[in-house]
Amino acid sequence: MKQAILIIDFGSQLTKLIARRVRDFGVFSLVIPYDSVNSKIFIDNEIKGLIFSGGPRSVDDKNSPKLPLFVYKKNIPILGICYGLQLICKQFGGKLKFSGDREFGKQEITIKKLSPLTKNTHKLNKKYQVWMSHSDSVEQLPVGFDVIASSGDCKNAIIQNLNTKVFGVQFHPEVVHTLKGTALLKNFVINICKCKKNWNMKSFKNQMIADIRNKVGEDHVICGLSGGVDSTVTAILIHKAIKNKLKCVFVDTGLMRKNESQIIKNLFVKNYNIRLDVIDSSEEFFLKLRGVKDPEQKRKIIGKLFIKNFEKYTKSNKEIKFLAQGTLYPDVIESASKIGNSSVTIKSHHNVGGLPKKLKFKLLEPLRELFKDEVRKLGKELNISEQFTGRHPFPGPGLGIRVLGEVTKRNVEILKKADDIFINLIKEHGLYKKIWQAFCVLLPIKTVGVMGDDRTYERICILRAVTSVDGMTAESFKFNDNFLKLCATEIVNRVKGINRVCYDLTSKPPGTIEYE
Ligand code: XMP
Repeated sequence: MKQAILIIDFGSQLTKLIARRVRDFGVFSLVIPYDSVNSKIFIDNEIKGLIFSGGPRSVDDKNSPKLPLFVYKKNIPILGICYGLQLICKQFGGKLKFSGDREFGKQEITIKKLSPLTKNTHKLNKKYQVWMSHSDSVEQLPVGFDVIASSGDCKNAIIQNLNTKVFGVQFHPEVVHTLKGTALLKNFVINICKCKKNWNMKSFKNQMIADIRNKVGEDHVICGLSGGVDSTVTAILIHKAIKNKLKCVFVDTGLMRKNESQIIKNLFVKNYNIRLDVIDSSEEFFLKLRGVKDPEQKRKIIGKLFIKNFEKYTKSNKEIKFLAQGTLYPDVIESASKIGNSSVTIKSHHNVGGLPKKLKFKLLEPLRELFKDEVRKLGKELNISEQFTGRHPFPGPGLGIRVLGEVTKRNVEILKKADDIFINLIKEHGLYKKIWQAFCVLLPIKTVGVMGDDRTYERICILRAVTSVDGMTAESFKFNDNFLKLCATEIVNRVKGINRVCYDLTSKPPGTIEYE
């Protein structure tokens, strides 16, 4: 049974960050929405501590999120963050007040009393910068609780009941703007909850290999590769467990980056000796995309065709009972959490992981407990070269959503060349690892230029490079001017069909990373 810290999500945008921080201490963390908490979780895992996340609601609201009382009776240490602190107060009999004054952003707290939560990290009577985001505050503490720290507007910035090991912080220790926030979390996880630091990629890998063998038995597994890190690591991990009972399929859509198909074949066949069936379906993709300009329609066509090819393949391989997918933990958290979910479809994401349930396979999702950077670490543990695990994300529909407007073979070829030049220059200048994702986009409009003595009338290429933690928000990367000029010159000189290059400075939100 795995030791874990259970993080109960009340809808904060920062919940995943808490989970990340705990794992960085070498301790496994689980996130679960508040309305999915049940006793089974405590049977399946050795829960050593509970963290209640922040959330957008007010504890005094009608129908505000609460927890079943059995959770409090487990005698497991609790740390409530923001909404979590207020919930603790309410459920232990304290009183809250809604204040019109929101404390938002950076504040200073003063430590008033010693606590195991701040031991060796925060000094008595000293001030520390924290990051707050709340409007409700505690008016009356429940019996048995003490104030450890307070800020200008918030008397109860840190509270504790030492007997029951229940703690609360009104600020967010998980964000970098809170000084000593990580140290405070570590005090809770390691010193108060007494967790062992035994969560690492090596133990995870060995455990997963044994689990996969157990689960699959004598059956066969199919894994669709996309060229991305997640499906690659999934396949190689499963192959370690069940060898040739794994069948890998790569549908070549014609919409991959330059040399992509070759890179994948080399990795699987040459490096790992894994059987890989490549279905070259590019002609069919271009045919079906002919004349289609609408982004959503393009995505749907690509998704459907992908599935059609996949289904065709599986029909002739009857021994396959499992479908492997590179689902990651953020997807699991997101689909489990109903809190604050928007029903608006910004883009219908298609990846190999988006295959329909009617394929009637049992699912095998060995990465569903991992974050993206942990997948990269697992890749390293599996000896997959950094060249591969460190690659920027690439969307399922590929260049089909980066050639804006109609997708033709010629346009894809133009884009492939420009993209290759841009990415290689980024690598040559040592910038690749500093950027979350970089790529080129081909606009469907032409502009006039002059080359030699000739007038040109060609397309515009947009350079996009962003920094991000998880792709949910992003900032444009700050290149220096000379580098951008070099990219523009190289692309215009070497790629026939492009005579103008622009750099996109839009962040996400309000933009998205991809263009369609
Ligand atoms: P957006 O454009 O929504 O992208 O800001 C966020 C991240 O998701 C990637 N992306 C996709 N990945 N299938 C995928 O597997 C898709 O359909 C898809 N669309 C966008 C995008 O590249 C970025 O990393």
